Amino acid sequence: MVRAFVAGLLALAAGAAAKTVNYDFNVSWVQANPDGMADRKVIGINGEWPLPVINVTKGDRLVVNMYNGLGDKSTSIHWHGMFQNGTNNMDGASMFTQCPIPPGSSFTYNFTVDQNGTYWYHCHTDYCYPDGYRQALLVHDVDAPFYDQYEEEIPITLSDWYHEMMEDLSTEFMSLYNPSGAEPIPDSFLMNDGQNRTFAVKPNTTYLLRIINTGNFIAQYIYIEGHNFTIVEVDGVYTEPQEASVLYVHIAQRYSVLLTTANSTELNYKIVTVADSDLMDGIPSNLQLNNTNWLVLNEDAPLEQAVITAATSDDLVPFDDFTLVPTDGMALLPEPDIQINVTVYMVNLMTGYNYAELNNITYTAPKVPTLYTALSAGDLRTTEVVYGEYTHPIVLEHNKVVEVILNNGDGGSHPFHLHGHNFQVIQREPPLGPEFNSYLDGDPIGYDPNNHTDFPPIPIRRDVIVLPPQGFVVLRFVADNPGVWVFHCHIDWHLASGLAMTFVEAPELIPTHVSIPEDHYAACAAAAIPTVGNAAANTEDYTDLTGQNAQPADIPDGWTSKGEVAMAFSVLSAVLGIISLVYYGLADLKHRPKPAPAARDSSEGEVAAVSTEVPSKSG
Ligand code: C2O
Repeated sequence: MVRAFVAGLLALAAGAAAKTVNYDFNVSWVQANPDGMADRKVIGINGEWPLPVINVTKGDRLVVNMYNGLGDKSTSIHWHGMFQNGTNNMDGASMFTQCPIPPGSSFTYNFTVDQNGTYWYHCHTDYCYPDGYRQALLVHDVDAPFYDQYEEEIPITLSDWYHEMMEDLSTEFMSLYNPSGAEPIPDSFLMNDGQNRTFAVKPNTTYLLRIINTGNFIAQYIYIEGHNFTIVEVDGVYTEPQEASVLYVHIAQRYSVLLTTANSTELNYKIVTVADSDLMDGIPSNLQLNNTNWLVLNEDAPLEQAVITAATSDDLVPFDDFTLVPTDGMALLPEPDIQINVTVYMVNLMTGYNYAELNNITYTAPKVPTLYTALSAGDLRTTEVVYGEYTHPIVLEHNKVVEVILNNGDGGSHPFHLHGHNFQVIQREPPLGPEFNSYLDGDPIGYDPNNHTDFPPIPIRRDVIVLPPQGFVVLRFVADNPGVWVFHCHIDWHLASGLAMTFVEAPELIPTHVSIPEDHYAACAAAAIPTVGNAAANTEDYTDLTGQNAQPADIPDGWTSKGEVAMAFSVLSAVLGIISLVYYGLADLKHRPKPAPAARDSSEGEVAAVSTEVPSKSG
């Protein structure tokens, strides 16, 4: 292919000299109306939205000088999927690796891109990326195994979209009036931050589609009528090519697929996206779950809407990513040195709001960013105690094999992401596909280490995995990246309600691996956040956590079943005259109540039976 050949020559010429890619990001509010239904404020860069797609080559240095010109909101940027080995402080996760950058402050991100594949960048401070602060980050690789098979790249972002600001939605979400933790339902769904997109293509030509879900909450199915996909990359990992007709892309997941267009210019082809309504606690009648965009082969042919109804989304059978095989052939990691066994629960705590917990902890941010605690704690940095109880810290020893058993005590699926790594996925039940919701009829089923299917010899690796409703996944990785890394559900509502924990990896090496530039400390000073001390900002005695930020208390045992408590709060809400429960309390209660405390911390594999006293649909 001539294009590939020429590009190859150019790359050879340029290859030796990795470049520095510089951006100045002036972050400010701008107006946008991507679905044509509501004009709203969104977070723009340099006065524009959609935000700039970042294009780099492996080996490049990316330098982004960010100025927070929002005036009323703190920010940060996470480079989703970048391992940041040696640059943990550039990871962008507020209160994990830096302070939230307050209005009027500047902050420079500066790191080397050491990976190929499809990534994205997004704000990683409370409730900010779904206001528009997210976009693709693409690494271009002339040595990719599929490089000479395609003519051109087509980046495609999928996302849900809200007409209201996150700030307003979040106060409704975390409130007494929403005891079941029902997430706000999006108003629409976007492709490349718009709708009715057309992609002009040539017949019988192969393209590389880079598909990213940059949304807040809702996974989407995507397929193209009359065409198949050949998957060649997931989350930055090249895979042996596999055919797929339908992809299921959950929040923050990426797929690169080869697509060969029809050998005719007669028709245009529908690119169909269908939002996963199983994630919602009710479907408003005016919400359009499916959208049509088009591959345009003939500008004079009509652009027709796909015919599909919400009811048929269950008939879409997506490709199961568990079956993918990385081209690098990396074998199954050996038996783990460290095993972390956590279960997702949705609970009501004493405030009456709904929280997400991993075992019995709902992540609560510390007073000092965890990385800064690691840097200032001296020899105590290797102990978990200095990081506080409610950041849910786990210290991982350098180069150990870590296994995470993640059980789901909840009836919704959760896209879990680990910063600083990708992980091998060695088990998942039930599989993605027609069985996906099959554990919903009974109690949650936990992973049993003594009774499981064989681990794949060459497991797929990725950085976001879908945890099935009431099922489980088992992940492995090597703790070879000293730093503080977040493990969390990427649904922004759930991150905010505490579905996160903190891995502190090889803490003894962090001081030699990471150095904090002056402007990072300056952002903390401007935000009045301390940069030394334990999680409670205690600098005298790092083992004294007095005054740490703590999660709300459990509801006393006398109140027994959490289901009853949720019900009680539902009734309370009703008494308060709240009729918004049409989508909430009266809808199918997706979030199952948590079992009694004694059964919580099961390390024996089986998740203890979860109470099924769930208010029924009819209320
Ligand atoms: Cu895409 Cu914690 O991030």
